[in-house]
Amino acid sequence: MLFSDIVGFTSICSTATPFMVISMLEMLYKDFDEFCGFFDVYKVETIGDAYCVASGLHRAGIYDAHKVAWMALRMIDACSKHNTHDGQHIKMRIGIHTGTVLAGVVGRKMPRYCLFGHNVTIANKFESGSVECKINISPTTKNWLIKHDDYNNFDLHARDPSCLPKEYTNAEGTCYFLEGYSHPTVECDAKVEHHIEAAMNQINETN
Ligand SMILES: *[C@@H]1O[C@H](CO)[C@@H](O)[C@H](O)[C@H]1NC(C)=O
Repeated sequence: MLFSDIVGFTSICSTATPFMVISMLEMLYKDFDEFCGFFDVYKVETIGDAYCVASGLHRAGIYDAHKVAWMALRMIDACSKHNTHDGQHIKMRIGIHTGTVLAGVVGRKMPRYCLFGHNVTIANKFESGSVECKINISPTTKNWLIKHDDYNNFDLHARDPSCLPKEYTNAEGTCYFLEGYSHPTVECDAKVEHHIEAAMNQINETN
């Protein structure tokens, strides 16, 4: 699961018209929605400036954490290409966690596919424990990433264990900032999207 939010959204809204806010979210989410299609991850319905996705809900694979991590890198990259109404770059904060959740449709009026469980709350806490333009990765997600990563392609920076959310109780390991990704077949200085595309081609071939 990935949770994200726009840093300073309330203050952006305080000086913008509702139309300006909607236009900003519209151009940003248009990009994000395309990424969801590309990575085949599920967009979880939310309100306001939170954008959440999940992978592996209907069929668990070994690359679900990878897809969500790549999605996060593309999201941070996309933010730098869009501005707020007062000309600032949009800054997002992202958190990712992996675990079992309950998913389903509850009720009869306006039925929606929703996620439930402590691991959803924890994923949200990894987001609030992140900082602007950074992707905060839980210890569980980090283990999934390195378990199926022959070339050590994810650029992960360990944070102090005090940065772990207090709700995260199986306190083994620490959280990480995901700073980048490089695929061995792509030139080092190529854009991150090309590195990710090469990786996606590779896993789509083998599956
Ligand atoms: C969270 O996910 C882990 C790993 O799948 C699982 O062992 C644990 O039971 C989950 N926690 C809850 C409260 O569902």
